[in-house]
Amino acid sequence: MAYKILLLAGDGVGVEIANSALRVAKFFQSNNILNIEIEEGLVGGSAIDQTGTPLPEETLRLAKQSDAILFGAVGGPKWDSLENKDRPEAGLLKLRSELDLFCNLRPATVLDGMADTSTLKTKLVDNLDLMIIRELTGGLYFGFPRGIFEKDDQQYGINTLRYNAREIERIAKASFEVALKRSSKLCSVDKANVLEVSQLWRDIFKKISSEYPTVELTNMYVDNAAMQLVREPKQFDVIVTENMFGDILSDLAAMLTGSIGMLPSASLNDSKQGLFEPVHGSAPDIAGQNCCNPIAMIMSLAMMFQYSFSEAKAAQMIGGSIRSVIKDGFCTKDIPIKDGKIIGTKELTNKIIEKLQGLYDER
Ligand code: IPM
Ligand code: MG
Repeated sequence: MAYKILLLAGDGVGVEIANSALRVAKFFQSNNILNIEIEEGLVGGSAIDQTGTPLPEETLRLAKQSDAILFGAVGGPKWDSLENKDRPEAGLLKLRSELDLFCNLRPATVLDGMADTSTLKTKLVDNLDLMIIRELTGGLYFGFPRGIFEKDDQQYGINTLRYNAREIERIAKASFEVALKRSSKLCSVDKANVLEVSQLWRDIFKKISSEYPTVELTNMYVDNAAMQLVREPKQFDVIVTENMFGDILSDLAAMLTGSIGMLPSASLNDSKQGLFEPVHGSAPDIAGQNCCNPIAMIMSLAMMFQYSFSEAKAAQMIGGSIRSVIKDGFCTKDIPIKDGKIIGTKELTNKIIEKLQGLYDER
């Protein structure tokens, strides 16, 4: 049976990096390493322009039928004046929620030879290998009531940070499982000194921790976690947190690695179906210039192979090729490696595919 991939390029640099990932996927297809079928669909601003909605019915149908979705990026100034519910981002949020992709894995890894591209001191970040787990279908992003309304001649804006016990339990279990496969250290990040929802979060994590006696669970307030991440990032291994906190902390963690252009992500549901996307956005300022970094997107494809298809070898081939291209000093302009050579998106993709070919021929 073929693995069914839905490719949603979206907007801005999404189009360029989707093309890079498609070429990498085709490498695995044409060499009969993996049996994959790839379909493409519309999402985000380009879907608004062509169909009037950021997530057309047809795209949602294809997404539900697929084993995994590879997602570029959405958004741009052209659609900035739309109401939130009509914006390109609403397409992504609806996909996450319709497919129940509650578990978002955002690894922040510093590759060999890249520590000095970080804005932090090299010794703080070299060999950093951190996993941020973001709850993705609840919390502040999805809670009701929400909206802007008027009462007593006053305007109010309201969003709600809420979780039920079941939602907390499943992200807790998922994160204990991830911690078990790594160094068995899990740090749950919340704001339990102020928020009741965080107190419930903490209680449930404590309860679930009794099922994982070998995992060391710690709790940290989110403000402190932000500070600790730039003070001494290597104290962490796996961090798990609420949707909005995770959105913020994962951008912060991205900069530890030098560039947000390096960070892939996986969003999974209970049946291993997943959406895989770079953590970065559509970067309209550099779109169409063949200069964006395709690595986060290509690594997202590797995460798809690993998490949705359990094809660890294929995932490792991608990781290995990327490391080897970096080792040769090739990079895009966001990651100016010392003594390296800055090349374009297409050219860096070519280099990665050459390395894949090399690994394949060597076998
Ligand atoms: C992310 C992005 C999205 C989010 C936007 C594009 C809606 O920032 O995936 O981190 O806020 O979740
Ligand atoms: Mg974000």
